[in-house]
Amino acid sequence: MRVYVPLDAAAKALGADEVAAAIQAEAARRGVEITLVRNGSRGMVWLEPLVEVATDLGRMAFGPMTTADVAALFEDLKAHPKALGLTEELPWMLRQTRLTFARCGVIDPLSLDEYELHHGLKGLKRALSLSDADIVAEVRESGLRGRGGAGFPTGIKWETVRTAKADQKYIVCNADEGDSATFADRMLMEGDPFTLIEGMAIAGLAVGATKGYIYTRSEYPDAVSQMTRAIQIARAAGVLGPSVLGSGRAFDMEVRVGAGAYVCGEETSLLNSLEGKRGTVRAKPPLPALQGFLGKPTVVNNVISLASVPVILDRGAAFYKNFGMGRSQGTMALQLAGNVKFGGLFETAFGLTLGEIVDDIGGGTATGRPVKAVQVGGPLGAWFPRALFDTPFTYEDFATRGGLIGHAGLTVADDSVDMLKMARFALEFCAIESCGKCTPCRLGAVRGVETVDRIARGDAAAIPLLTDLCDTMKAGSLCALGGFTPYPVMSALTHFPDDFAVMREAAE
Ligand code: NAI
Ligand code: SF4
Repeated sequence: MRVYVPLDAAAKALGADEVAAAIQAEAARRGVEITLVRNGSRGMVWLEPLVEVATDLGRMAFGPMTTADVAALFEDLKAHPKALGLTEELPWMLRQTRLTFARCGVIDPLSLDEYELHHGLKGLKRALSLSDADIVAEVRESGLRGRGGAGFPTGIKWETVRTAKADQKYIVCNADEGDSATFADRMLMEGDPFTLIEGMAIAGLAVGATKGYIYTRSEYPDAVSQMTRAIQIARAAGVLGPSVLGSGRAFDMEVRVGAGAYVCGEETSLLNSLEGKRGTVRAKPPLPALQGFLGKPTVVNNVISLASVPVILDRGAAFYKNFGMGRSQGTMALQLAGNVKFGGLFETAFGLTLGEIVDDIGGGTATGRPVKAVQVGGPLGAWFPRALFDTPFTYEDFATRGGLIGHAGLTVADDSVDMLKMARFALEFCAIESCGKCTPCRLGAVRGVETVDRIARGDAAAIPLLTDLCDTMKAGSLCALGGFTPYPVMSALTHFPDDFAVMREAAE
């Protein structure tokens, strides 16, 4: 009997370790021989711990499992009270296009053999047969854009680094996933770490870098240990090291752990932290692509950008580009969180409307109350009201409507949420997390909290002040933290004036 219990941190937080131990104990008590695989998450967090049992028909899913549900797994599976059916046939799975997350939850994350059986290393092998310029051209052709949030074309970034002249270049993976409602980087690192390793090795070949770093946060201990072990396994198997897959080309990498400052997800701040300095933002230019880690040309890419590269090299740019719409090509790992019925990770081609994502896939709110708004793109993302639920999920459509898709985290709020408090929270968050380097953010965020408090007390004169302050922060901040904080504030003010009582009174 082959049983799968996720080792994903979200599943563990919901009792996966206890369920796994109970399964082992029950099997021993009954004298049943089992193979227990600790897989990654399938992304259905509301069903975690999601246990799967291999059958002749495929893997059957059970969840959310508790230790009390374990004994019945050894009896008639179909009659199990938590039986959900075949995993691959669950609507959540059927409706997805899993390219980057194709293996996550399917394989044993630390089995290189299983990885290879599921298309693993094919992209790297193909990359080894191409010139550096051809690898970059393939990535550029695929339309892949930065999945960390900014959406900058990955191929163009790689070309800048490839053509830079230097004795040493670096690949830095930004795994400092700090946005609220986001967990795609963590899930990938825990559930399919070899994909990230392969993507980074391909990036190294493409730009002529021999060393890579994964910079992640101390709040991700499971991802850190899983990535570290996967790197050791890849190195022992010759995937990493002085001769990648016997090619004579070198590439190796290591994991570095930050102390958990939100601003260290900003690439220049991250580079400072990686160099052992205080995590403050550097002015750009120079771009990290030309003067990055230790002053050398450096590719800084998000986990999901790099993890999307193996499938592009394996299946070809045309295959990948075929998904999505307009200039938003390929797939995106949507992360549904907050007050949502079906929370989790859903990989799909760009182009679904926000309403389809929230109402249909997410099932509305967990509380059952009407959805009031959705914040898209983390704590610096705009709040979208129902009236904008027809917005297609693309970089361009969200920008046109005063928002951003960011790292594709969606925080759902029901009608009990006070949007003035949400605006205040955004400014308070910025005040706490500001690195202090520039005035609009360092002082603006603090004054912003005070101004929202004045509005809450009924001071109508504070409304234009808040608008002016947001304009200044947007135009004058050195990085996205100060520059994007106005998004949640102004969207709350614009779309939910009733929550800012003085606005309503002023209008009357
Ligand atoms: P940006 O627009 O300044 O830069 C985007 C990327 O393109 C950077 O790596 C930059 O170095 C590179 N770039 C720009 N021009 C280039 C050129 N000519 N050649 C080569 N490379 C070039 O945006 P930034 O400040 O790096 O990121 C902001 C985004 O980060 C926001 O959209 C936000 O959504 C996202 N974000 C994500 C978080 C997460 O947890 N994933 C947390 C906070 C913000
Ligand atoms: Fe630092 Fe804020 Fe300025 Fe960014 S905007 S450089 S976080 S002070």
